[in-house]
Amino acid sequence: MEQLTVKTADTSYPVYIGKGVLNKAPELLHTLLEDKSRALIITDTNVGELYGTKLKNILGRVLPVSITAVPDGEASKSMSSYEKLLSVCIEEGLDRQSVIFALGGGVIGDLAGFTAATYMRGIPFVQVPTTLLAHDSSVGGKTGINHSLGKNLIGAFHQPSAVLYDTDTLSTLPDKEWRSGFAEMIKHAYIQDPEFLMWLKKNVRTTEDIKKDTIRQFLKRSIAIKADIVKEDEKESGIRAFLNFGHTLGHSIEKSSGYGQITHGEAVAAGMLFAMRLSNEIWISSWDINQERDWFKSLGYPIEAPSHYSAQLLIDAMKKDKKASAGKIKFVLVKEPGRPLLNTIDEKLLFDLLAKEQRGNTVYD
Ligand SMILES: NC(=O)c1ccc[n+]([C@@H]2O[C@H](COP(=O)([O-])OP(=O)(O)OC[C@H]3O[C@@H](n4cnc5c(N)ncnc54)[C@H](O)[C@@H]3O)[C@@H](O)[C@H]2O)c1
Repeated sequence: MEQLTVKTADTSYPVYIGKGVLNKAPELLHTLLEDKSRALIITDTNVGELYGTKLKNILGRVLPVSITAVPDGEASKSMSSYEKLLSVCIEEGLDRQSVIFALGGGVIGDLAGFTAATYMRGIPFVQVPTTLLAHDSSVGGKTGINHSLGKNLIGAFHQPSAVLYDTDTLSTLPDKEWRSGFAEMIKHAYIQDPEFLMWLKKNVRTTEDIKKDTIRQFLKRSIAIKADIVKEDEKESGIRAFLNFGHTLGHSIEKSSGYGQITHGEAVAAGMLFAMRLSNEIWISSWDINQERDWFKSLGYPIEAPSHYSAQLLIDAMKKDKKASAGKIKFVLVKEPGRPLLNTIDEKLLFDLLAKEQRGNTVYD
């Protein structure tokens, strides 16, 4: 088992990563659980079926536990699921001495975390990630839900008390979810760690490569990159915004296509490629877009800017992005691996480049 610590100005918490971590939950969480009145596991229907009873039985050894499941998928990061979960908290008698366990991927982490952040003005929660993507989402304390007008627009910073990442749970993950999660790992490498990026480019060429045990070793490295950024800038007043590389267009694609129609990672992958195009446009920087596209293509990511939504629709969605200010669209661009910058982008340039990509007549070299 690997362990690292996430530190912020007000708190610090452990991240346990490895095979069989769940079985050790009562021991690993002894200090947290010893004075708790009860636990509520929040999960989704898929994950609940696979691992819900297991976690309930394990925690049941040390405190009363109940479990509730929302339908799986992005559509559950909604006002209505959130309200239902608050009702469950009340009906199950959760008090300020209670603890919520978020068992699932990033959707559950964000939704259950936001429930914990706001129920009785905030109770503790533990992240129990079960997707590759959730190596990113379970760390850093961003919790929230979507609004029909934009993604993640309602939320709170609420750090978990611990993260239990049992890599055995990844064995049941469908291929498209491995791909989705790998996009966030690539993102960490692009913005912060050129050496890691080189290793990934050399050794991970297909979805099968993502699933190999070597990737599990690199989970710790990717989480450490995120933890370092969160330590410096917990509330995203500076460098934490770099973690949004690929997300300005990515979020806009997710929103425009209808939440859950495309995985978060696929949307982010398309967004990162587009951001590299934009970087070349602005600085004549060094990205060999054809080479990047080939890598993304071999991994199974969509490599074209989506053509079924108008450039204007995507831009309108970007204006509602949290990074936008005074209606100006901001993009995280990466000049070269390890050198991210947050830039305000001229709307006309954005429109022209998106439209050009959509017509499929982009010249890449
Ligand atoms: N808070 C943050 O810092 C942060 C960072 C990145 C992404 N996110 C959010 O994370 C969300 C995406 O998370 P995700 O990709 O994990 O999606 P997800 O939670 O919807 O999980 C993807 C699918 O995999 C299934 N699943 C989960 N674990 C499984 C397992 N072990 N075996 C089989 N099936 C399993 C789920 O039921 C679901 O159908 C997005 O809403 C995104 O905005 C948040």
